[in-house]
Amino acid sequence: MANVAVVGAQWGDEGKGKIVDWLSERADVVVRFQGGHNAGHTLVIGNQTYKLSLLPSGIVRGGKLSVIGNGVVIDPWALFAEIGRLEAQGVKVSPDNLLIAENACLILPVHGELDGYREDSKNAGGIGTTRRGIGPAYEDKVGRRAVRVSDLADAATLSRRLDALITHHDALRAGFGAPPIDRAALEAKLAEVAPRLLTFAKPVWLALEEMRAAGKRILYEGAQGTMLDIDHGTYPFVTSSNTAAGQAAVGAGVGPRAVGYVLGITKAYTTRVGGGPFPTELNDAVGQRLGERGHEFGTVTGRARRCGWFDAVMVRQAVKVGGIDGIALTKLDVLDGLDELKICVGYRLRGEVIRHFPANAGDQAAVEPVFEVLQGWSESTQGARRWADLPATAIKYVKRIEELIEAPVALLSTSPERDDTILVHDPFRD
Ligand code: GDP
Ligand code: IMO
Ligand code: MG
Repeated sequence: MANVAVVGAQWGDEGKGKIVDWLSERADVVVRFQGGHNAGHTLVIGNQTYKLSLLPSGIVRGGKLSVIGNGVVIDPWALFAEIGRLEAQGVKVSPDNLLIAENACLILPVHGELDGYREDSKNAGGIGTTRRGIGPAYEDKVGRRAVRVSDLADAATLSRRLDALITHHDALRAGFGAPPIDRAALEAKLAEVAPRLLTFAKPVWLALEEMRAAGKRILYEGAQGTMLDIDHGTYPFVTSSNTAAGQAAVGAGVGPRAVGYVLGITKAYTTRVGGGPFPTELNDAVGQRLGERGHEFGTVTGRARRCGWFDAVMVRQAVKVGGIDGIALTKLDVLDGLDELKICVGYRLRGEVIRHFPANAGDQAAVEPVFEVLQGWSESTQGARRWADLPATAIKYVKRIEELIEAPVALLSTSPERDDTILVHDPFRD
């Protein structure tokens, strides 16, 4: 039995939440390993819709352990607000079913503020971030001045960490014309959340090792997607963490071989929210139709997502850099009723056709997609639960995607609803 890592293979919002929820029936533990509350994962179960940002998507099922790993940046206020929203929907969250890594770094209010100052600045911003303080919090982690969960239990360490952090931030804030940090107010805010947060804090690596030894099945839940990865994505229009499956090991505290099968979640077309290059973007009626049928509005910020054709070059690259073993192809139903479908199979750059997405930002913006045209289907695939229920042209589209991206389809999703999912190959039985 393999463990499974679920990662986004495009620019996020591929349907990771739905697939993690579906797979979590077969798992004992669900672990988030990077990102923060910039993520928005939607689960639809009967007439209930759950929107999760920081909590692992396994939390809605009883009897599963949810874990927030050290690779995640945690905003305690956002965490408790999310727990409150879930409890109002009847989901119980307590230290019995949620562990938080004691060595995870915190997102403080000053991080969200700095994110906002930069986004609003003419020269320093323009990324189109979620303004949740993700980038500034990871900068402080790498800069060795972050407050970690366990620091909240140790007044002397916390005080030293705040010395370093405030010195650094006050200099930056002055540059943006912002007032210095009110240390007393920040300390009071931290003191308010510390006792509750510490009840969840554990050496997560040790808990996961014990689970592994006891033969428990672990599901790793990624946020964002490969093209938002800090190294492999469309830099600088990326998030500030590694989103590829390799991060699952480091961000949870397990060895690389413990991760197991890597499932890349892949939309049957492409979307992205925020700025940055998008070679197959459609600024026409088809793009608008995909956005409407797919309800492509950000879960976190409510922004309209940009839509375009499936980009096989980009997804193949995600398969290779992330070690993706198979994909879950989602939102096939959104393509119902289109006469023809296009798939990007290469890029034209300075008169030449290339088969990979270049690293240089100028080249990324300049590439023009080379399309292959496939026939669409008029039948409905919405809610299909068997491969045999799909029209032949839809199967042809899926098969062509498999060939081009050099990875098989393990799961196929045909609506937001949990059970509208076709299992082709069980990732846990790899
Ligand atoms: P995530 O960030 O990867 O978890 O994805 P989001 O939840 O942000 O966005 C995916 C959206 O598509 C959500 O509203 C899901 O409910 C919805 N969704 C997931 N799978 C399907 C599908 O197969 N068909 C349709 N129509 N919607 C889907
Ligand atoms: P899920 O997990 C889609 C995008 C933002 C912005 C860039 C940087 O729901 O797929 P950040 O706030 O992370 O510094 O923003 O990354 N972004 C996402 N886009 N889905 C997400 O998460 C995203 N998380 C961040 O829009 O372009
Ligand atoms: Mg999302």
